[in-house]
Amino acid sequence: MTSSQTSIRRSLRLLAPDCDARVSHDSDLPAPPQALFPPREVRTRVEDQLTRALADARERVLQGPVMPTIDRARLREELARFDFATPRPLEELIAWTLRQMEHGVVHMNHPRYFGLFNPAANFPSECADRISGAFNPQLASSGSSPAPVEIEAHVIRAIARRAGLPPESAGHFTTAGSEANYTALICALTRAEPRFGTDGVRAFAGPVAMYTSRECQPAWFKIAHQAGIGRAALRLIGTDGKGRLDVGALAQALVHDRARGIVPVLISTTAGTTGAGMIDPLTECARIAREHGVWHHVDAAWGGAALASERLRGLLAGIELADSLTIDAHKWFATTMGCGMFITRYPQTLSEAFRVSADFMPSNVAQLDPYLNTMQWSRRFLGLRLFLSLAAAGWQGYGEHVERSAELIARLKERLLARGWSIANDSQLAVLCVVPPPGSPKIRDIVRRVLESGRAWVAVSTYEGREVLRICATHGESTLADVEELVVALTATA
Ligand SMILES: Cc1ncc(COP(=O)(O)O)c(C=O)c1O
Repeated sequence: MTSSQTSIRRSLRLLAPDCDARVSHDSDLPAPPQALFPPREVRTRVEDQLTRALADARERVLQGPVMPTIDRARLREELARFDFATPRPLEELIAWTLRQMEHGVVHMNHPRYFGLFNPAANFPSECADRISGAFNPQLASSGSSPAPVEIEAHVIRAIARRAGLPPESAGHFTTAGSEANYTALICALTRAEPRFGTDGVRAFAGPVAMYTSRECQPAWFKIAHQAGIGRAALRLIGTDGKGRLDVGALAQALVHDRARGIVPVLISTTAGTTGAGMIDPLTECARIAREHGVWHHVDAAWGGAALASERLRGLLAGIELADSLTIDAHKWFATTMGCGMFITRYPQTLSEAFRVSADFMPSNVAQLDPYLNTMQWSRRFLGLRLFLSLAAAGWQGYGEHVERSAELIARLKERLLARGWSIANDSQLAVLCVVPPPGSPKIRDIVRRVLESGRAWVAVSTYEGREVLRICATHGESTLADVEELVVALTATA
């Protein structure tokens, strides 16, 4: 027996001591490494154990602190022992990993994580991840993955219709909201100047500029940098005192820039700002964009889920006029991360921006094949997460989910007002920006103490130039008891 075969047998025994190596029928070919490709009975046993271990860990997480408790120095020591020279049994490795996850992350799956827009993932999307992992389809081309590509396109069309975009609208799932916003800028540049694709920003008659509010998500700076228009091309328009883009200031900035030979290419409004859940004046901004011949993108990364609610979707009026949209399923739609969407009424611009020819690819279908219409090439089957969730819950179920979190925040608002706190933002969505009563410790200190207590997770943010404490309902199962405990944690330190 060769040394590699000995090592394979040893790996297998480590992985599954009760299971012998599979017989290789290729006498002159070594058997596949069994640590990587174990037989069915081993896979099933390990998967079953993992399923049970995850369920147990979930129970413990719900009872434990929201914050990580890990000793990082000890973790680094343990990591140093992974020299990857000696194989270790997978079951042991899984148990080790679960311990790190249980104690080494802020638990978004905790009902008192009132944090950034990262959700507690819904169950159908977790199932989707298992399925995607098991089949591992390549989502670059409809030739290799006809069913997944059709499923993704179907979901994108359903979201586009729900937003009121025209029937020809199309798009795709992205790694996250930042990629979707980046795609919007590339589309805007491509549509504004036909020679952009060949000559880059040199093709424009002058320096280009894009416009968004100072409350925008800061990834726009990186996007401007990556796209080659430069960070200075990002115009941060002032707000109206309520966290919404000031329409008058936007119109003035466009006129002023044009007079100086600058070429405006994109207006990006936000429907659900990261800091305060505010919605820019979408209809007025769409009108200004049309007047100036500029692409209008609506970044509804988080707030877009309000489309699911009959009661709340009216808040997004004007979204139907957008040239393109970002909506993240991994935010308020509560799928596993990351699962962004880019949708546009101009699919031909997407195809123009990402066109390429590759004769080795199994298909070449314009306006369908993801490798011809997105930044990515190899892609995971991300859209299955939203397909299964939406199909299982229906718009109504998702509407209930969205309305429930808005209601939870409304109840929290009442309780904090009753204790003398004031509300800084005027959002009907599920984000609250609050300020403690006069004489309370600094907001940063309150937040620090709440986090140290492990009872809840909240954040410091800035709203209209003022420091606020930001609370967002992101867990679909948080209860009024959780709200009560948050109030106790906040007021105990205030
Ligand atoms: C309004 C908005 N746009 C874009 C993003 C970036 O999304 P992602 O983190 O999925 O890249 C965020 C993130 O919170 C956001 O709130």
